[in-house]
Amino acid sequence: MSRFDPHSHFDTDQPRTHRLTLEIGVDFERRRVLGRAVLDLGGGSTGPLDLDTKGLVITAAATGRGKPIPYALGAEDPILGRRLRLDLPAHTAQVAITYETAPEAVGLQWLAPEQTAGKRHPFLFTQFQPIHARSMIPCQDTPIVRAPYRATVTVPEALTAVMSAAPADAKAHAQAGKRTLEFTMPQPVPSYLIALAVGDLTSRDLSPRSRVWAESATADAAAYEFAGIEEMIRAAEQLFGPYEWDRYDMLVLPPSFPYGGMENPRMTFLTPTVLAGDRSLVDLVAHELAHSWTGNLVTNATMDHFWLNEGFTVWAERRILEALHGKEAAALGWAIGQNALDESLARFPADSPFTLLRTNLEGVDPDEVYSSIPYEKGARFVATLESAVGRERFDRFMRRYMDRFRFTSITTEEFLMFLNTELPGVAQRVDADAWLHRPGMPAGAPVFRSERLDTLRTLAQGWNGGTRPDQAEAGHWNANELLLYLQHLPRPLDEFSCRWLDAQFTLTQQGNYEILVEWLTIAGASDYEPVFPRIREVLTSVGRMKYLRPLYGALGGHPRTRALAREVFREAASRYHTLSRRVVESVMEQYRD
Ligand code: BES
Ligand code: ZN
Repeated sequence: MSRFDPHSHFDTDQPRTHRLTLEIGVDFERRRVLGRAVLDLGGGSTGPLDLDTKGLVITAAATGRGKPIPYALGAEDPILGRRLRLDLPAHTAQVAITYETAPEAVGLQWLAPEQTAGKRHPFLFTQFQPIHARSMIPCQDTPIVRAPYRATVTVPEALTAVMSAAPADAKAHAQAGKRTLEFTMPQPVPSYLIALAVGDLTSRDLSPRSRVWAESATADAAAYEFAGIEEMIRAAEQLFGPYEWDRYDMLVLPPSFPYGGMENPRMTFLTPTVLAGDRSLVDLVAHELAHSWTGNLVTNATMDHFWLNEGFTVWAERRILEALHGKEAAALGWAIGQNALDESLARFPADSPFTLLRTNLEGVDPDEVYSSIPYEKGARFVATLESAVGRERFDRFMRRYMDRFRFTSITTEEFLMFLNTELPGVAQRVDADAWLHRPGMPAGAPVFRSERLDTLRTLAQGWNGGTRPDQAEAGHWNANELLLYLQHLPRPLDEFSCRWLDAQFTLTQQGNYEILVEWLTIAGASDYEPVFPRIREVLTSVGRMKYLRPLYGALGGHPRTRALAREVFREAASRYHTLSRRVVESVMEQYRD
């Protein structure tokens, strides 16, 4: 037995999945997915085959020829779920498993009609990264294993399904009141990049290779926000080479989606909180798009190498931003990232192993240690390599890196070997060892200077000394400038200051959620009552963990805001995604009483 991924039962001595075929029925009444998963093993095999499952009820297992396969489910592990061990008869080339999901499957969120924009139809979406595919599909749920997939999905007639795949011809004989859609993903992908959403969806074309899907009520707003997507794809192709996934479509989800975005190939999933109305948050799409190269083409082998996905992608996102909007815009991006990094570093003790880039998460739930560190420390490491050899040479290196490892999943060690071959001596020169294997930030870590940032920071930090922004000038700040200014304000503030800020920048009515939540965090920490209704509104509708964490955190400081937080959570908890609910619970455990 040889296990490689601490978060999977996958055994490297056993056959790998070469192709996956899924037949899925979506039952909104029982909140269950009924499935049949066929795994092609790429040739005949015998003996044990270990798969990951979580909450699945297995009803049958058979070979491709219909011969039953003996199987057993192992003990429940709170992080990994249960191992499904199949005992393959001689020369088994294909296994077919019939099963049903649990209503509380962590990779699925079932929404009641009231939780959607249209209010008339239910909604289902998946979120499989990091290790939740196993709650919908019995599979080798590790990114080391990649396979193309095909799926047929049967849903209520009034609804549509989309997947992280290309639509294929719909099947004819659906049951009454149902429709069946077919999808195909020809490129080999890890299980965490399989994705499904079912709801009352419509789409708007944005370019010959891109469209946005959303509920009818948000479709026009989404089309407006993402109108520039083709330009962004072209900028990314200029930097990183041809886009390899044919189409780049997007899906705007209902507000309970727990992340900002998820790079599901061919179909990025997005929170509706990016629809600011003025395109000020489309950087997030640059990030998910960049994953088409860094993450989806070259993939982390396990969550211990997660920085390979996110660090490179944050770096790539800012290169796209620079290509589209110039150096100053990119510098503001790095500055905003610095705040996120500082907050994440503060969340862990100084010597915490969770601040390493190359982690060892054996026995650790990756969702619990999710932070900005792999993103922002990782991106700073990549930027350090870039400045050590110069941009031109580094860009050529990146092209070769993506060429060498395309459609594969790699470790930090494999990356280092490649770096040492292609750019000898550089790893040592920048002290790669400190970046990867030591906690916190290395001494020589780059600090991104921007004159705008310095001005805004000084202005904000002078608040208690009476410094105020010039009203006429502040009226011309862009969204990121205002955000940076707010991020550097001291807190708590007194009531008069809160009122002044809100009047000056109309903060409580902001359409840009980054700004809105930063403001509500300041106002909440300041026990500023006029914003309580808006806080309640945001916390009862939005499930994005990036917003719930600071907002619930800020409400911990005063008896009155703690009471507000508890009351809102009682009301909202059952509608949050499981992961969002866990985050809020852990934040509220820190409350003083
Ligand atoms: N792949 C991540 C989301 C993710 C990571 C989900 C790990 C589950 C486990 C995605 O690309 C991401 O990083 N999203 C960010 C936005 C981005 C602009 C930093 C988010 O959701 O906030
Ligand atoms: Zn990402």
